[in-house]
Amino acid sequence: MKPVFCSELLPLSSGFQAQVFVTRDRLRVVKVIGLNEADFMNQHQATQLAEQVGIYQQMCQTVGLRVPAQFTCRAEFDPQLDRWLVVEEEAYSGTAFDQWVADQTDQVVLTVADQLIDQILIAFSTLDENRRLTIGIDPKVANFTVGNQQLVTYIDFVPARYRINGDYLVEYLGPITEREKRFFINRYFTRNSVVKILLIQFSRVCPRLRRPFFERLIDRLTVAGQTAVVEMLTSSLSFQFFRTRDTGLIEQLNPADPDGIRDFACEVAIANGHLNTETFSQIFSLTHLDVRESHQIQPGSFCTIKQLLHSMAPARR
Ligand SMILES: Nc1ncnc2c1ncn2[C@@H]1O[C@H](COP(=O)(O)OP(=O)(O)O)[C@@H](O)[C@H]1O
Ligand SMILES: [Mg+2]
Repeated sequence: MKPVFCSELLPLSSGFQAQVFVTRDRLRVVKVIGLNEADFMNQHQATQLAEQVGIYQQMCQTVGLRVPAQFTCRAEFDPQLDRWLVVEEEAYSGTAFDQWVADQTDQVVLTVADQLIDQILIAFSTLDENRRLTIGIDPKVANFTVGNQQLVTYIDFVPARYRINGDYLVEYLGPITEREKRFFINRYFTRNSVVKILLIQFSRVCPRLRRPFFERLIDRLTVAGQTAVVEMLTSSLSFQFFRTRDTGLIEQLNPADPDGIRDFACEVAIANGHLNTETFSQIFSLTHLDVRESHQIQPGSFCTIKQLLHSMAPARR
């Protein structure tokens, strides 16, 4: 489905929530939200979302995150589709990090990856009295572009994630249970979670650079005084596996912590030469949690995951 006003545009990516288009001269990006059936919005919802996205982008910019230039966001009714849409427009800011890495040397990837760490450290400067971020962030590497002079830009503003009236704005449509809300707040507004997502996502895209990236992450977090986060990283099961190669640690994995399992799987894959294999990908899909359906990995899948991990990491004799 393509809104009429996008007919002159080229499709760039169909993201999780947005259909993303680019102008023919590749100077501007147009993101349309509300095209999926599940994302139906009435006028009030579309107007409110557009306003929240604008506020969030502004907050990100104010705190010092690098964001695309010439940003606008508006609600728009598409008469042909007969629905309300939210339309975000901004300058094209480069290639998404996960695609950009393909043509780069390891050294360049690591240098640019330092900027990813710098960006999340900027978000860390906004802690509130609950030790949560005032500006939530989803540090999937696909949410950062690499542009001119290899500058990294944060580009994902939907859903808007920020603290408002003592509460946190999380997902954008429909009712949400307290449990789901807690999950999203923990995932996008806490330092430990943001760092874990960044590490896992980076490892997924550049598995062979996970170890040097991990070292740089520890160094930068230490310099920034983020000792509790460093402590979290160095006490994780994945780090214990890195040090000991002990497959017994697989039994300590927690089905309610899919990120912990993914992180562990990265380390096992690296240690045993299973990078980019089917098994490795399978673990990532099995750990995908739809929080609206369940809050932990189902017993059958969890069993399979453990078997897959064992098959990647044969016990040492
Ligand atoms: N300003 C931009 N410049 C260049 N590419 C962009 C820009 N914004 C988005 N993209 C591309 O579109 C993809 C999806 O955008 P995003 O805003 O993250 O949508 P979603 O949250 O639905 O995934 C990005 O991974 C990137 O490839
Ligand atoms: Mg995104």
